[in-house]
Amino acid sequence: MMTSSGPSIRNSTRPPRAPDNRPGRLSNKSVFPLWAAIRPGAGPPSRVHQSVVKRRSAVLGRHPDGQGGQRRSGGGMDREGLVRDAATVSSAEDLASLLRRLRRRQARMRKTRVATYRDLATRTGWSRGIIGAYFTGKVLPSVDKLDELARQLDATPTELGALATARDRVDELRPAPRQLPGDVPAFTGRAAALAVLDAQPGRGPAVISSVGGAAGMGKTALAVHWAHRAATRFPDGQLYADLRGSGRRPVPPGEVLRGFLTALGAPASQLSAGLDVQAGLYRSLLAERRVMVLLDDACDAGQVRPLLPGTPGGLALVTSRSRLNSLVALENARLIVLDRLDEAQSQHLLAARLGARRLAADPAGAAAIVSACAGLPNYLAYAAANAAAHPELGLRTVAGQLAASRPTAVERRHHAVPVQAF
Ligand SMILES: Nc1ncnc2c1ncn2[C@@H]1O[C@H](COP(=O)(O)OP(=O)(O)OP(=O)(O)O)[C@@H](O)[C@H]1O
Ligand SMILES: [Mg+2]
Repeated sequence: MMTSSGPSIRNSTRPPRAPDNRPGRLSNKSVFPLWAAIRPGAGPPSRVHQSVVKRRSAVLGRHPDGQGGQRRSGGGMDREGLVRDAATVSSAEDLASLLRRLRRRQARMRKTRVATYRDLATRTGWSRGIIGAYFTGKVLPSVDKLDELARQLDATPTELGALATARDRVDELRPAPRQLPGDVPAFTGRAAALAVLDAQPGRGPAVISSVGGAAGMGKTALAVHWAHRAATRFPDGQLYADLRGSGRRPVPPGEVLRGFLTALGAPASQLSAGLDVQAGLYRSLLAERRVMVLLDDACDAGQVRPLLPGTPGGLALVTSRSRLNSLVALENARLIVLDRLDEAQSQHLLAARLGARRLAADPAGAAAIVSACAGLPNYLAYAAANAAAHPELGLRTVAGQLAASRPTAVERRHHAVPVQAF
């Protein structure tokens, strides 16, 4: 819980009393520098002021700023209060309240007006918006940003340490969403696409599409598999949403945003704002965090855009049957187009799901399945599931059933040669 600073001290020009040299007491001599620091240019402290300083110092320790010597500047009472209160900080709002106190104290000490967001933006080179977000607790500043901000507000080294510790505590208490669906069993192939994703710098989203917009080519499988592999690069969480873009009712981005904001710990009161406001808050919350956002099965760029992080610390991974060209053109997206698995990869997928022994026992049947599936992972997965559910069936029979029931829509759509197919 926050407490405010100590009793107010008025200016005085009355001379100090004789020194009090009793053990454990501050002498008048040692009060003078404290007083001069608290009220620069105010003249010597009155008896009342001396006793306030001494009493406060006795409660807080002789040198409340913890430096074991004289303070460099004033505000001792508030300083101790700030260090003490930093120990109880448990949220970004608590931390913001300390920053606001520092700001008020600076104005008192320097006898100036309270620094505005604009002043601080000029001093730091940061945007006013992000400074406002720090001061209202909407965004937790990074370690470096907090340090710089507190220095700008004349925090002492002890206070800087206490604030950094408080920030670490808030960081640990923040929810780190882990929304990824389970990894694909026996994931196979896609080495080149995985390498491209590994090298993705995070300056824009990665879009995974498929040759000719084919369904079942393994877009979601690749995205989810890589997301699990790379999860440690995003320690602040992984967000996932099925946008149902290939269905009849794609999910509106505002609905997804509300879910993400809740998962990121945004207060419920912030969830009723308009799409732009929510998107701004979302980007602010992601600004200082390394979060991966997996947007699965997008219908178009408009559905995705409000859900993209605004800063490079996070990464958005988008899957779509469409290539989302406008994301590539305007958002620096990296496009990965998936093609069919080759014969060896198809065999591998089957073996991984059915067991190498069953394939070895019926190589001709396995080859028939591979041929019937034509490198389409969804067919291979379907055939493997069928064969696993009916161990009494020969693989050739499974292949025959598949060939008989196979739709041709994917085949028809599968014609374009991609710029970059994996
Ligand atoms: N590389 C792979 N290794 C193993 N299984 C895979 C692989 N790729 C896809 N699969 C399997 O194929 C099936 C279809 O894959 P997935 O759902 O990822 O396709 P998709 O391209 O996202 O399809 P849609 O366009 O309908 O969203 C799933 O059962 C998945 O587990
Ligand atoms: Mg999919």
